[in-house]
Amino acid sequence: MPRAFITGITGQDGLYLSEQLIDKGYEVYGLIRGQNNPKRALVESEVPGVKLITGDITDLSSLMRAFNTAQPDEVYNLGAISFVAYSWENAKLTTDVTGNGVLNVLEATRLYAGNDLSKVRFYQASSSEMFGKVQEVPQRESTLLWPRSPYGVAKVYGHYMTINYRESYGMHASSGILFNHESPRRGPEFVTRKVTQAVARISLGLQDKVSLGNLDAKRDWGFAGDYVDAMWRMLQADEADDYVVATGETHSIRELLDVAFKRVGIDDWEKFVFVDPQFFRPAEVDLLIGDPAKAKEKLGWEPKVGFPELVTMMVDSDVEKQRALAGK
Ligand code: NAP
Ligand code: GDD
Repeated sequence: MPRAFITGITGQDGLYLSEQLIDKGYEVYGLIRGQNNPKRALVESEVPGVKLITGDITDLSSLMRAFNTAQPDEVYNLGAISFVAYSWENAKLTTDVTGNGVLNVLEATRLYAGNDLSKVRFYQASSSEMFGKVQEVPQRESTLLWPRSPYGVAKVYGHYMTINYRESYGMHASSGILFNHESPRRGPEFVTRKVTQAVARISLGLQDKVSLGNLDAKRDWGFAGDYVDAMWRMLQADEADDYVVATGETHSIRELLDVAFKRVGIDDWEKFVFVDPQFFRPAEVDLLIGDPAKAKEKLGWEPKVGFPELVTMMVDSDVEKQRALAGK
C-alpha cells in the first residue's frame, strides 16, 4: 500500500487530494496544526480514512516526528497561509509559513530519506500568483516571475527552493504552478465562494447585498478536484519537473457575478453588488491565464469541469447549505 503525507490537510485541496488518494488505495497521513484545530472534525467526517498527526510546517522537529510516523512514499506540501489579501497585513508570518515552511518540509523529506533519496517524492504547491504583473500571455512554465504580494514573493522562494533541492540532491521534487481552483469546499474569504454564498443568501432573502473590490480582475478558474489529480500525476512521472496547471480560459469577476446570479434567476446583479475600497489590494494581479500544454503532453492531464459548470456547482451547493442553516 503506497503511503502519502499531506500538509494542509484541512484545506480545500487537502480534502480533495486525500479523498482521491484513499480511493486509489493509499494510506494517507495528514499534518494538522494547533492544539485543538476546529477543522479536525471536518476532516474526520469528510475523509474518515485519513490519519492525522499534529505538527506545524514552521517547526522542523514536529515534521521529523510526523515523517517518522507516516513513513511516506509521497509528500504533498499544501500547507500555507494562502489568502493573498491577508499577506500584506501579515507579511512576516506569511514569509515564515508560505516561504520558509517549504524549506522545512523539503529538509524533513531529505533527512527522512537519508542515503536513499529515491524512496520519496515531493510535491510543492506553487502558484500562478508568482506571475503577478504578467510578462507574457498566456503564462507558461518559462514565463518570468513578477510577484505582486508578500504571498507571491513567499511562493517564489518555495518554488525555487524546490527546484534547488531537485538540482542539488537529485530529489524527485516537482512544483505545480496551479492557477486559481475552486469548489464548494473553497474558503469563504476567496472571491468565488464569497460570491456564491452571497448569491445563495440573497436568493433566499437572508441577505440584501454583497460588497466586493476590483470587479475587473481576471482569473483562470478551474475545479479543485481536477487540479489535485494533476498533483498526483506529477509524482507518478519518471522525472520531476515544473508544470502549469490551468484551464487556458480567463474570466472577470463581473462574468462570475453574471453566471452566479443567473443561476438563481437574477439577471440584474448590479443592484445587489457594491464596490467597497477596503477590498482593493495594494498591488493587483490584473490578468491570469495559463497555458497547460506541458501538463497535457507529459502528464496526460486535462481539466474536466468548465467555468459555468464550476460556478453552477458552487451556487447550488451554497443554496442547499444556506437553506438547511435557515431551516427553509
Ligand atoms: P487553504 O484551503 O487555505 O488551505 C491551507 C492549508 O494550510 C490549511 O490546511 C491550513 O491549516 C494549512 N496551514 C496554514 N498554516 C500552516 C502551518 N503553519 N503549518 C501547517 N499547515 C498550515 O488552501 P488551498 O486552496 O487548499 O491551497 C492548497 C495549497 O495550494 C496552498 O499552499 C496554496 O497556497 C496553494 N495554491 C492554491 C491555489 C488555489 O487556487 N486554491 C492556487 C495555487 C496554489 P489550518 O486549517 O489549520 O489553517
Ligand atoms: N477575496 C476577494 N474578495 N477578492 C476580491 C474581492 C473580494 O471581495 N473583490 C474583488 N476581488 C478580486 C481580487 O482583487 C483578485 O483580483 C480576485 O478577485 C481573486 O481574489 P481571490 O479569490 O482572493 O484569489 P487570488 O487570485 O488572490 O488568490 C488565489 O489564487 C492564487 C492562484 O492564483 C488563492 O487561492 C491563492 O492561494 C492562490 O495562490
